[in-house]
Amino acid sequence: MLDLLIQNATLADGRKGVCVAVHDGRIVEVSSNLSATAHEIIDAQGHLLSPPFVDAHFHMDATLSFGLPRVNQSGTLLEGISLWGELKPMLTHDALVKRAMAYCDWAVAKGLLAIRTHVDVCDPRLLAVDALMEVKRKVAPFIDLQLVAFPQDGLLRGKTGPQEHFDTLKRALDLGVDVVGGIPHFERTMADGALSVKLLCELAAQRGLRVDMHCDESDDPLSRHIETLTYETQRLGLQGRVTGSHLTSMHSMDNYYVRKLIPLMAEADVHVVSNPLINITLQGRHDTYPKRRGMTRVPELLAAGINVAFGQDCVMDPWYSLGSGDMLEVAHMGLHVAQMTSQAAMRQCFEAVTQNPAKVLGLEGYGIRAGCYADFVILQANDPVEAIRLRANRLRVYRRGKLIAHSSETVSTLHMPGRPSNTAMKHDSTPLSD
Ligand code: FE2
Repeated sequence: MLDLLIQNATLADGRKGVCVAVHDGRIVEVSSNLSATAHEIIDAQGHLLSPPFVDAHFHMDATLSFGLPRVNQSGTLLEGISLWGELKPMLTHDALVKRAMAYCDWAVAKGLLAIRTHVDVCDPRLLAVDALMEVKRKVAPFIDLQLVAFPQDGLLRGKTGPQEHFDTLKRALDLGVDVVGGIPHFERTMADGALSVKLLCELAAQRGLRVDMHCDESDDPLSRHIETLTYETQRLGLQGRVTGSHLTSMHSMDNYYVRKLIPLMAEADVHVVSNPLINITLQGRHDTYPKRRGMTRVPELLAAGINVAFGQDCVMDPWYSLGSGDMLEVAHMGLHVAQMTSQAAMRQCFEAVTQNPAKVLGLEGYGIRAGCYADFVILQANDPVEAIRLRANRLRVYRRGKLIAHSSETVSTLHMPGRPSNTAMKHDSTPLSD
């Protein structure tokens, strides 16, 4: 007998009336007509059943610190950086764990069950690393949490010399941090930026780890560290294991140069993570008008066959006072900023918060297929585009076949004579036949 049978679901690829059979924490069958006995049978009522949302770029050590020690009045990157500097000496292990755990509760409620978070490794105490390693253990039954050793103040910019932060970064990896991070555009010179990329990629190759760098988070079209990251990926045989996060300078780069760059990135199988909520608010701040959007070239990268994910980056921290762990909000913003409004492109935006970031993290057993983990979300929407339009309610969230969050359908009751008694803002967009 099955543990769980979901009936009458719609899948993101458009299949309707689908049954999903679950046993021992895994999906054992996905088919259109399945009659089997199960301990629990759920009628999905035609709603979209999707693999869980995945966030490939987050900062969990800063999340939910909004207002500490004061509010970012201007909402700019520079005031955010100085605020983080004021907050750092006041951080405690317990407060970091408490805030991160509260965010993970939000994430589960939003069907966000895998997160890659960067963690600052420039603090010799490695306070945030210790705290997030504890959080990783605590949330493991519900969330795959992947940590990136992020030298936020610059790998080669330590107060005692270029070795200082490199040493703390290696110590963080020794403690079990999963991924090698970097921030080449923040090093003192272009040459130091390129050197940091080389050193960090070599370290990742030695240790068999993945790489994910904040790369070219700048409006300077000459910030071209993605070229070095791509080169080192090829040279060291790291294809498919390296991610360039942000890449905002690519928005401002010369088209001639980009035509050479993108095929090289595709050849090296470099992943890209764009963070639309943050990029649209923090970039272009030195422009008068026209004001650049500062988001990387998502449609062009996808067209070249490069795996592109959308990340949340920040929620209620010194840099961004909004956000709720809702990856559909992220997809919604990405869709608008990149003008991805064709039917196919809107579906790509849904993939950019589900299957694409799952590839970035290298998640095993992800998807709605026999053999995959029984991790999925039933959304109050009939298809991926409607899910983005409504930032759809997460009706039921499952992890390893167990219900870990659920909510009632969102329906507004109306009180107007001659009008329906309620609305859920659904609209059947099936084209009329002529
Ligand atoms: Fe970031």
